[in-house]
Amino acid sequence: MVLPQIAIPNLVDPRTYADHDMTEVWRRLRSTDPVHRHPATPQGPEFWVVSRYEDVVRVLRDDGDFTSEDGNVLTTMLLGGDTGARRMLAVTDGPHHTELRKLLLKAFAPRALADVAVRVRRLIRRLLEESVERGGCDFARDVASVIPLETICDLLDVPVADRPEVLRLTKSALASDYETPGADVDRIARGEILLYFSDLVTERRKRPGTDPISLMATAEVGGRRLDDEDIILNCYSLIMGGDETSRLSMIGAVEAFAAHPGQWAALRNGDVTVESAGEEILRWTTPTMHFGRTARADVRLGDRSIAAGDLVTLWFTSANRDETVFPDPDRFDLGRSPNKHLSLGYGRHFCLGAYLGRVEINAMLDGLRTFVQDIEQAGPGRRIFSNFLSGMSSLPVRLKGDPAGPSNWKE
Ligand code: HEM
Repeated sequence: MVLPQIAIPNLVDPRTYADHDMTEVWRRLRSTDPVHRHPATPQGPEFWVVSRYEDVVRVLRDDGDFTSEDGNVLTTMLLGGDTGARRMLAVTDGPHHTELRKLLLKAFAPRALADVAVRVRRLIRRLLEESVERGGCDFARDVASVIPLETICDLLDVPVADRPEVLRLTKSALASDYETPGADVDRIARGEILLYFSDLVTERRKRPGTDPISLMATAEVGGRRLDDEDIILNCYSLIMGGDETSRLSMIGAVEAFAAHPGQWAALRNGDVTVESAGEEILRWTTPTMHFGRTARADVRLGDRSIAAGDLVTLWFTSANRDETVFPDPDRFDLGRSPNKHLSLGYGRHFCLGAYLGRVEINAMLDGLRTFVQDIEQAGPGRRIFSNFLSGMSSLPVRLKGDPAGPSNWKE
């Protein structure tokens, strides 16, 4: 079958996402070329672009024919692989993945996270009350950037005295997504974070607790102890995986509320539950635009033939707006049900931090509807610079407080 040629922008170039109306690009791809062959770029070889919900799920479900071990995001896949492969959970498959995931899940289960959840709510209350008192804030910088990192530090039991430094390094490590593309500062900061975790691993081997670092430092996986590098890489991936994603969802929520006053009112009035709203925020914001796999065998996908070794990118940002699954997909609808979005992935690599991410987002929604009466965008926001993540790095807002807030808030 001859497929119509459609001009789609370069999906490797981060500028594409700032310069194009991607909603239209994805709609056209879903309808005319759902398994699209993206040409080679200076950054690497050709790759497949999968845009329909059904095809994305088909690949994520099939961990026999598709692997994450050659990288799971465009940047590493195009470079030929991920240095953390077969060590870091997200880029490990097979029995080692199963065992490591089982171990880490102990620290991510709802019961294990009960204390962390209480601290999230306290922190959100403090940050929102401070912002309301000032009449507004840069929601990205003053509120959303603080919560996920503090939460992961809680989860990993990072000593309070070390936190300012860990937070500073993490911000620098993400500089390429947030400020000056190409800067070197991110690489140096990444090195420093790894060194910091190396010290923490040594400490936890001596005095283990119940946090994920201690679990990894003391357990056997596949009949052997994990070495320091395994543990450090997984710590790094927890910080990176858990920070930006939750942060971008929360910022996206506030941006959406300012733009959709009717939906904001529905949340405030209790016409929709926080849980239902949280799922729509996840779908609407889709913080990770894509993940990827490499084919291990020749596979048919739609009416295309994927060859063993081909790179396959799965665009959640498109699948979450697939009109065959989500009626009126471009409508922001906090009461949407069912809402089986793919923002947290699907299958073997389904987000390990899904429960924690939902705790953070839902606590934020609860905090907003309790302490804030009106949200108004107070100036232009700034989008992040990335071909992987989507959202804002700056969002100035005016916030009018609800005087009844403190009496309605449940700790
Ligand atoms: C809104 C918040 C979040 C979003 C949108 C999100 C998104 C995702 C997605 C789409 C995947 C699947 C990757 C793949 O299939 O290759 C994933 C996996 C993962 N996420 Fe999250 N995530 C969030 C929060 C978190 C948090 C809070 C943590 C930890 C603190 C975390 C840690 C991980 C890890 C370790 C994996 C790999 C799981 C595996 O390979 O078995 N995530 N996440």
